[in-house]
Amino acid sequence: MANIAKTSLALCGIMLFSACAHQQPSSGRDAKIEARIDSLLNQMTLEEKIGQMNQISSFGGSIDEMHDLIVKGEVGSILNEVDAKRINQLQKIAVEESRLGIPLLLARDVIHGFKTIFPIPIGQAATFDTTIAYSGARIAAVEATSCGVRWTFSPMLDISRDPRWGRLAEGYGEDPYLASVMGAATVRGYQSNKLSDPTAMAACAKHFVGYGAAEGGRDYNSTEITERKLRNVYLPSFKAAAEAGSASFMTSFNDNDGVPSTGNSFILKQVLRNEWNYDGFVVTDWNSSGEMVVHGFCADNYEVAVKSVNAGVDMEMVGYSFVKELPEAVKRGDVSIDAINNAVRNILRIKFKLGLFEHPYTDEDLASSTLYAESHLQSAKDAATKAAILLKNDGILPLSDNVKSVAIIGPMADAQHDQMGTWVFDGEKEHTVTPLAAIKELVGNNVSVSYEAGLAYSRDNSKEGISKAISAARKADVILAFVGEESILSGEAHCLANIGLQGAQSELIDALAQIGKPLVLVVIAGRPLTIGSEVEKANAVLFNFHPGTMGGPAIADLLWGKAVPSGKLPMTFPKYVGQVPIYYAHNNTGRPVEGNEVLIDNIPVEAGQTSLGCRSFYLDAGWEPLFPFGYGLSYTTFEYSDIAIDKTEYGKSDVIKVSYKLTNTGNYDATEVAQLYVRDKVGTVTRPVKELKRFERISLKAGESKELSFELPVSDLAFWNIDMKYVVEPGDFDLWVAGNSQSGTPLTFSVK
Ligand code: GLC
Repeated sequence: MANIAKTSLALCGIMLFSACAHQQPSSGRDAKIEARIDSLLNQMTLEEKIGQMNQISSFGGSIDEMHDLIVKGEVGSILNEVDAKRINQLQKIAVEESRLGIPLLLARDVIHGFKTIFPIPIGQAATFDTTIAYSGARIAAVEATSCGVRWTFSPMLDISRDPRWGRLAEGYGEDPYLASVMGAATVRGYQSNKLSDPTAMAACAKHFVGYGAAEGGRDYNSTEITERKLRNVYLPSFKAAAEAGSASFMTSFNDNDGVPSTGNSFILKQVLRNEWNYDGFVVTDWNSSGEMVVHGFCADNYEVAVKSVNAGVDMEMVGYSFVKELPEAVKRGDVSIDAINNAVRNILRIKFKLGLFEHPYTDEDLASSTLYAESHLQSAKDAATKAAILLKNDGILPLSDNVKSVAIIGPMADAQHDQMGTWVFDGEKEHTVTPLAAIKELVGNNVSVSYEAGLAYSRDNSKEGISKAISAARKADVILAFVGEESILSGEAHCLANIGLQGAQSELIDALAQIGKPLVLVVIAGRPLTIGSEVEKANAVLFNFHPGTMGGPAIADLLWGKAVPSGKLPMTFPKYVGQVPIYYAHNNTGRPVEGNEVLIDNIPVEAGQTSLGCRSFYLDAGWEPLFPFGYGLSYTTFEYSDIAIDKTEYGKSDVIKVSYKLTNTGNYDATEVAQLYVRDKVGTVTRPVKELKRFERISLKAGESKELSFELPVSDLAFWNIDMKYVVEPGDFDLWVAGNSQSGTPLTFSVK
């Protein structure tokens, strides 16, 4: 049957191509694929076309229930099937029993690993290493495609500056440049060199767009982002994904300025298609189409289908309004057949590029030799090692040979499930190596290891276990306290108004601190936390955004100096949640702060009415964050010197050559993330006080110096200005090369 279907398709291709040669491939399109699309389109009924625009979710449901829908050609894609045998069964129905044999596109949320779980994306961002993003995505794709999954809903590219928002865990933090380069590398990792590679998995840039600016840091909430802010802050990471060839985009749940993304033709047509010339396909988020009725943007599902397709959506995830309403909408002329054809063309283009028509089935024996491969686990450990951020260290780390006993305390020391982090559907906790297990393995009989959880889980308010923890801690040379967040406390819909340590964790730390022994805090969480008081009580703090399957061995190596921390914060840590939103690339305002004084306790009683402080700050919190973007310590120290630029005045087509010397002035071979920031001092609109423009991981032996440089095209200083034009404006600029966003001394140059 399959051969007949294919042969007829091939013949039609030859006969019909001339009949529909009007569809000229746009630049970069494959003429052969476009011809095959035209040929298929010419055979499809309206219902079959609309069926390609319909995605259903399986969650392992009955194949019989899906059988008739697939045979009818009512389903173009299925998500949440991950068993190779079942996927082949579903695919066989589509290819061999439906009229035209169009293969299904099988999808899954493979967000930071499939079986081998990598650090959550915000943790990967902390590595400031695009090779980590690429290799993690490549391994995820190899594992997922071995089970028949060929489309993932990743990377998530939403810029977020609000640690209350649970989904920051899935993104790359607050900075557009960091998110752009990490996201593009992730797309390339998933999609390999070409989509027809059987280990290639189509990427999906999500959630388009502005989702991370949800008011109040509350998921799904409205956003009010101006066009200029969209273009300067929230769109760049998506543009980078489009340029990296992301096969698909997903619309976001939020309404921006009153328009839900799923019905927003400005972003889906004007920006994505007309300006970026994008030719992948656009899928809604989970019934984000139908939710436009709840938003009050559509009166009913008929309007949902009309507004979605006319705005530029190609495929509907589980909402079913397309199947039910589009035939009538086309009949009434509310949706043109051209719009339907374009949507189906975009979808079929990716199916052809994936090679699904030639190779619709999966080798069912492949998974067993692929999942959790040793090289995958090693790569996951490497990622977790580079993702760890040393926030404080009075010298207790790395633990020396003098340490003969450690007490491992806390709810996150042996949390196999929670260590993997949010959005883990397929990783199995049994494969997670926790810090407790890894430390025992690492130290063997050289160090006595005692363990008391103290609390059963991160939200545990019971203090019953604290006394046993204290007893164990008293007997040890060093206390290693593992605290943080269960994985369920971040991710979709999991926002927090209080971003301190949950449960009785702070009380546990307080009790441990009172023992007077060296106290090392190892935090494992899904977001920045307001842990200032806990940091004060500790001798050292190592922060890990949920590090995944191999987080334990990574942390053990770092604590004992087998590896040296190199992670940097991809997001600002506030002192108090009341400071949010707080981020480094803020505008200067007319009343910028000098210093960081907290005035509240110095105000005389009955103080006369004055604009006390006269600055944009908080009387009770000063100004500065707990830890700034780009911050992270090492076991060594680094010195930046001889920072210079090759000219003081540049033309718009020039390249700025920035040279600097970096010296490892300490006693450990280590890696520094050198960061290049620029400030446009005067613009036709106000500009951020700093913007990250480049970074590089530099490894130096103890005592070693290197002469290094960045090259920055002046064109990279462009922004969307008062006229909504993307231009470099002449004027003066400041430039920093430093180890975080708050240090360094600026050099000044001008652009003429
Ligand atoms: C969810 C998420 C989206 C995910 C999709 C499919 O609601 O918003 O990120 O890819 O549904 O699971």
